[in-house]
Amino acid sequence: MPTILGLSAFYHDSAAVLLQDGRIVAAAQEERFTRKKHDHHFPEHAVAYCLKEAGLTAADLDHVAFYDRPRAKFSRLVETLTAAAPSSFSTYLKAMPLWLQSKLHLPREFDRALGGAHRGRYIFTDHHEAHAASAFFPSPFEEAAILTLDGAGEWSTTTLGHGRGNRISLTHEIRFPHSLGLLYSAFTYYTGFRVNSGEYKVMGLAPYGEPRFAALIREHLIHVRDDGSFWMDQDYFDYCGGVTMTSEKFHRLFGGPPRDPESLLTQREMDLAASVQVVCEEVMLKCARQAHAITRSRNLVMAGGVALNCVGNGRILREGPFEHIWIQPAAGDAGGALGAAQLAWHHVLRQPRTPDAGDSLRGSYLGPSFGNAEIRTTLTARKAVFHAEDDESRLLERVVELLMAEKVVGWFQGRMEFGPRALGARSILGDPRSPKTQQVMNVKIKFRESFRPFAPSVLREHCHEFFDLAHGADSPYMLIVAPVREDRRLPDSAARMSDLQGIDKLNVPRSTVPAVTHVDFSARIQTVSPEANGRYYRLIKRFYERSGCPMLVNTSFNIRGEPIVCTPDDALRCFLGTDMDALVLEDTLLLKSEQPEPRGQDVADYKRSFVLD
Ligand SMILES: [Fe+2]
Repeated sequence: MPTILGLSAFYHDSAAVLLQDGRIVAAAQEERFTRKKHDHHFPEHAVAYCLKEAGLTAADLDHVAFYDRPRAKFSRLVETLTAAAPSSFSTYLKAMPLWLQSKLHLPREFDRALGGAHRGRYIFTDHHEAHAASAFFPSPFEEAAILTLDGAGEWSTTTLGHGRGNRISLTHEIRFPHSLGLLYSAFTYYTGFRVNSGEYKVMGLAPYGEPRFAALIREHLIHVRDDGSFWMDQDYFDYCGGVTMTSEKFHRLFGGPPRDPESLLTQREMDLAASVQVVCEEVMLKCARQAHAITRSRNLVMAGGVALNCVGNGRILREGPFEHIWIQPAAGDAGGALGAAQLAWHHVLRQPRTPDAGDSLRGSYLGPSFGNAEIRTTLTARKAVFHAEDDESRLLERVVELLMAEKVVGWFQGRMEFGPRALGARSILGDPRSPKTQQVMNVKIKFRESFRPFAPSVLREHCHEFFDLAHGADSPYMLIVAPVREDRRLPDSAARMSDLQGIDKLNVPRSTVPAVTHVDFSARIQTVSPEANGRYYRLIKRFYERSGCPMLVNTSFNIRGEPIVCTPDDALRCFLGTDMDALVLEDTLLLKSEQPEPRGQDVADYKRSFVLD
């Protein structure tokens, strides 16, 4: 049974994936084990986990596949820094030692990391080919158009292509430094958020603003052609040679320096966010139309960091030419580990592919799980008070009772998700009907900005009753934003919000499910099915039977800046360090009111250990 280890590392979101006979046995991001968000080091813990899950050692690996070509990336770096000299000199000095000592000698580095046990081949794939493979091979389609949208790989930043059977081919590309991902990251930086991390905040902030800068962006920063190709004026950016994303010329154009991350968010940042978001959506739509024009396929698959822009994805679904869309949930660089492994399997080893009717990711539940015995041993050691609820029906009933009483519940079940979204395995849940849920969850549980929206996990068969997701479409990985149906919105709410500025709009109840309705009446949807989501489906179904509401609020199980929890210990620490009311670990229930008061110092240390992104 051929065994392939896929790796992504040394940029951001390091991850490991294990394929056995082409089947995805395990996949996990390094950050979950090291508790360092977007950890970029060699994923030694993720590799160890994958091998353990399969009952193997490194000596059993037939191939190790890596998600980009370091030499090509290095030549791009040298060329870019040379062109930007002399201002790039300090970046050059900083980057070179790392490249010369390790990044250019990856087989040696991998040998060392795997303890010299690996006797097989190392396979290096193109960065965008790895993204494209991660989009097409696990998808439910026999053939599909492929679109990757990213920051940068070797040279490509955007690619178009086609997949059929066990082959993919990329036929069109846009090259660095012209990059939709980097345009978005430039505005992430400029509005005071962390690059490669805070892009989600910009997307969440956009609905509070007006796109009054969009014309300026189109006129000066990015020239977009009808076929979706674009050119960016590098005079406005600093990412080629400098240490920041934007240049002085950029700051002059938009009337001031970047926002200080600690300072108050103003209407201006909201308008900037709305502006870059609308331009991003336009480019995404044009690229999708071009992919259709070239391939004439009815199906589209997507990956790359920009494919996490679920507002843009929703527009492609509703306004684009494709009947079906499938997006890789680990669309960022973590998913490159999967793509690299699958390229090794299908392209290098020429193995056939039979698409699964749903997809081959099994709900993206590909990480570690923990049994009741292990969980209860941990809880006992930590002196936590818990109730064993081994009867599922009773357990679900108790959780539904808590949720209906507006309690916030930590929900830890089965194998951890692969990719940045929590999908009901490591989630914090609440009642979407409550007008106070959004505020409580943001401020008392997540300790993050109150503007951040929350997502609904909705029973797939009831989705259309609340949301205008395109007919028959699915959003199993929470990667598509759709409007809340008109008949679910509250009368006058749009008019009342139009009189208000920015965050004040949040105070207007907007729909019958206010906690998951953004201020522009949109929602980032996860459709939940019995086949993919098991117990999570049964919980929401029970909540529906009791309340008439077929969805729950689902946010990731972590506080701001913290990687999503991996182990029962991580979950317990988060539970005790926040105002969460209850915690469910497999068949075990904990109530906050019954726990001994945690030491104030422990809680303070916990909150301090993660930085705002
Ligand atoms: Fe990437």
